[in-house]
Parts: sequence; C-alpha cells; structure tokens
Amino acid sequence: MLVKLIKKGAEADIYTGMWNNSKSVFKIRKIKNYRNSLLDSKIRKQRTIKESQILSQVKSFGIPSPLVYFINLEKSMIVMQEIPGKSVHDLSNSKIIGVSKEIGKLVGLLHKNGVMHGDLTTSNFILFKNIIYMIDFGLSQNTIKPEDHAVDLRLIKEILNSAHAKIMESSWKNFLLGYKSIVGITYQTKIVKLVADIESRGRYAQVV
Ligand SMILES: Nc1ncnc2c1ncn2[C@@H]1O[C@H](COP(=O)(O)OP(=O)(O)O)[C@@H](O)[C@H]1O
Ligand SMILES: [Mg+2]
Repeated sequence: MLVKLIKKGAEADIYTGMWNNSKSVFKIRKIKNYRNSLLDSKIRKQRTIKESQILSQVKSFGIPSPLVYFINLEKSMIVMQEIPGKSVHDLSNSKIIGVSKEIGKLVGLLHKNGVMHGDLTTSNFILFKNIIYMIDFGLSQNTIKPEDHAVDLRLIKEILNSAHAKIMESSWKNFLLGYKSIVGITYQTKIVKLVADIESRGRYAQVV
C-alpha cells in the first residue's frame, strides 16, 4: 500500500493512495499524548465510527460525500473515495460567491434531516465537476435542536467574515437564500435570530 501524506491536521493526518484500484484518501486520527491513553483511543474510535456513519447517512439526504471504502478502528482510520477537486476555501472570490447558495442548500438538507456538521468551514467543502461535496464529519451529531443548527451557521458566517471578508455580504446572502429554500422561511428566521443571540453574547463577553 503506497500512500502519500497530503495534510497534517490538528486531529488527523490525511494520506492519498490506491485502495482496490480506486484513488483514495486515508484519514488517520492521531494519538494525543496529553490525553489519558484509554480515553484517547476511545475518543478516536468514537469519532472514526461517527464520521464513517454520517458520511454514508448524508447520501440519503441528497448530499454528495465521499464513499467509505473501509474502516480500521484499531488505527482509527477511514479509507474513502478521493474527491479530486478544489477546496472551496481555495476558490476565487467570485466562485465562492457563486457556490455559497449551493452550500446553504446542503447545510439546509443536513439540518432538515436532523444532523449538525460541527465544523462548518469552507475547507470542508470540495468542488469537483460542478458538484459540491461535504466532508469532515468527525464532530457531527444527530440533533434537531435549533441551538445546535445555529452553531453551524454561526461558524460558517464567522469563517466567511474572517477568511473571505471581501465577499462576506454577498456570500452570506446567497448562503441564506439556499438554506431558506430547503428549511423554509420560518425555520431560517428562527436560526438567524439564534445566531444573532450567540453573536451578541460573544460581544458582551469580550467587553467584560
Ligand atoms: N475524500 C477526500 N477527497 C479529497 N480531499 C480530502 C478528502 N478528505 C479530506 N481531504 C482533504 O484533507 C483536508 C483535511 O481533511 P478533513 O477530513 O477536513 O480533516 P480535518 O479534521 O483535519 O480538518 C480537507 O480539507 C481536504 O483538503
Ligand atoms: Mg476539515
């Protein structure tokens, strides 16, 4: 098995290589020495299971995601289809504005089906052949709580605000258009209100 390291993340290392003649990504969660080793292996196993389950589950909602080929819990490794596109984070400003509505729709589909992503950044969407794929479900949860869904929106809004500041307004507007088209105006209004609540609490916390 010939693999090549492509990304060293905080939590996992990402390798690419072949798996049964398919170009694949190997996501391997790293041992954290600062954690008690029993607890650490439990957390890594748990997140590996959760991520592989949700990667498959979201397909039934109509969300494009990598196919899961194999998991090895001892190594906390997931072998999945490689999506050989470009991370939305690395797209040009005009393209990010263009895909924001579709991203909003995908997040709407996720929430409508009772799942929160947990790490909703532009690096966790890949554009390939005009299709947006969602990845990185290690922190996902099955939840229908509006407060949890608001946490997702608040994070992506924050990322657009910081990493993509020049296009914040148009991409956020498009995101919300897409989101609303799936969850409906009543739910969207409720979540946006909760996002504003979280934001004002954040500002207040900074002042004191
Ligand atoms: N299936 C995949 N196909 C292509 N690239 C991937 C795939 N999975 C992960 N990557 C790349 O590796 C990066 C890190 O993977 P990710 O699952 O997001 O882990 P992390 O928890 O470290 O963010 C992604 O941002 C993406 O660039
Ligand atoms: Mg990621």
